Amino acid sequence: MSFSTRILCIGAGHVGGPTMAVIADRCPHVRVTVTDINKQRIDAWNSNDLPIYEPGLDEVVKRARGRNLFFSTDVAAGIREADIVFVSVNTPTKAFGEGAGRAADLQYWEKTAREILAHSDRGKIVVEKSTLPVRTAAAMARILNSNGRGIRFQVLSNPEFLAEGTAMRDLEQPDRVLIGSEETPEGIAARRAVADLYATWVPRERVIESNVWSAELSKLTANAFLAQRLSSINAMSALCERTEADIDEVAYAIGTDSRIGPKFLKASVGFGGSCFKKDILNLVYIAQSYGLREVAEYWEAVVRMNEWQQARFVRTMLANMFNTVAGKRIAVLGFAFKADTGDTRESPAMTVTRALIAERARVVITDPKALANARVDLQDVGDAVEFDADPYRAAQGAHAIAVTTEWAVYKTLDYKRIYDAMEKPAFVFDGRNILDHRALFEIGFNVFPIGKTPLKHV
Ligand code: UDX
Ligand code: UDX
Repeated sequence: MSFSTRILCIGAGHVGGPTMAVIADRCPHVRVTVTDINKQRIDAWNSNDLPIYEPGLDEVVKRARGRNLFFSTDVAAGIREADIVFVSVNTPTKAFGEGAGRAADLQYWEKTAREILAHSDRGKIVVEKSTLPVRTAAAMARILNSNGRGIRFQVLSNPEFLAEGTAMRDLEQPDRVLIGSEETPEGIAARRAVADLYATWVPRERVIESNVWSAELSKLTANAFLAQRLSSINAMSALCERTEADIDEVAYAIGTDSRIGPKFLKASVGFGGSCFKKDILNLVYIAQSYGLREVAEYWEAVVRMNEWQQARFVRTMLANMFNTVAGKRIAVLGFAFKADTGDTRESPAMTVTRALIAERARVVITDPKALANARVDLQDVGDAVEFDADPYRAAQGAHAIAVTTEWAVYKTLDYKRIYDAMEKPAFVFDGRNILDHRALFEIGFNVFPIGKTPLKHV
């Protein structure tokens, strides 16, 4: 079979893997190769046990793999063949030196740019898929185009807006696709080529073209706005707990205002995930580096509020369990940062677990998909934590249950059976407001939701 275009994606993670699977599935005329430096990851992509859990991903990969979708560790060969190179390597928060704790660590990105240059014998379109600080594309273009061989590259920014757990739907029916380029005839031609690719399945009017910095900044802005909504509703949840207002009623009432809208207003133990905190801190660093102190402080408060909400959840547990959890068994229901994923990066469950361990509680963690990651994340704590895939066994003999991930299965557990097997008084701390609080109270539990009056027997 001859292909019209050859695409390479460097980085087979949560973004690169699903995105390329959908491009291959929707564009049979395009040959898609995904590479990664991690051989184990590539082997997993080539097996029946994919390295990430995402509803609907298995089917799409199975349809396209071996036809026009390939996973490989041979990045050099991939680069040589490709017309378009997507870069989706990780850009964690810098852990050292200037900007440590806030700036993005661009070492993998720069290394990748140099690798692309080393293995190219003709010009290519290079597409940033990773979230990057504003003006990174320009720096990358300088590295790529500073070759003495007369090879010209176009660097585009095409940020990914998918959310984990709904990645396949977000990719197949995106609200929009954003492609930024240099505003030169070559830049515009390059972004049109990538726009045409997406237009195979995305309605044209949803493919937005812009200059490259607008595209880069739009991604950081979108994540900052989303996280800000969560910190705003979580701030109100603390006020609700003091005033007998109910946060779900408040969220519903304000969400009916079409200017506000109903989505992303669910109060919780706090937001997690690999992006929100990292991207906001990155925004804060950028604002600071331009001398915009007020802008930096404004956005930093979104992260601080989230940290406070997570700490507040544990303080509520302590205060209501007679100010001590030492030696008490506590079942943590859910370790993924949200439902329908096995990803545990920045999970609020991690903060809660570590705080409970610091209080000498005996924590047992259960989760339908994230136990493997949880074990790795908590390697350092040894016997202080137990893992059990069965929520009933996890709750056996526990003084309290803390719901930290909104998995649907937790809504329908037999809570009478759980109550009977627990120490008394038995406590439920519903960090996601997904349980039937009145029914739990009637069973005998002391119930502590987020942003609602607790239901207490003691
Ligand atoms: C990525 C980016 O990390 C993040 O900046 C953006 O906001 C979303 O997209 P994700 O796909 O979730 O996030 O990252 P991850 O699952 O860690 O995957 C990155 C992959 O790149 C890893 O598999 C890693 O092995 C690979 N990688 C990293 C390379 O192949 N080469 C490198 O030089 C560095
Ligand atoms: C986010 C953005 O949504 C996505 O567009 C971007 O590409 C990457 O970052 P993700 O982190 O995968 O996606 O998941 P998201 O659904 O945004 O959830 C983030 C966190 O907020 C989770 O911990 C989730 O449980 C929490 N959340 C979300 C709430 O607490 N309440 C809500 O109403 C929504």
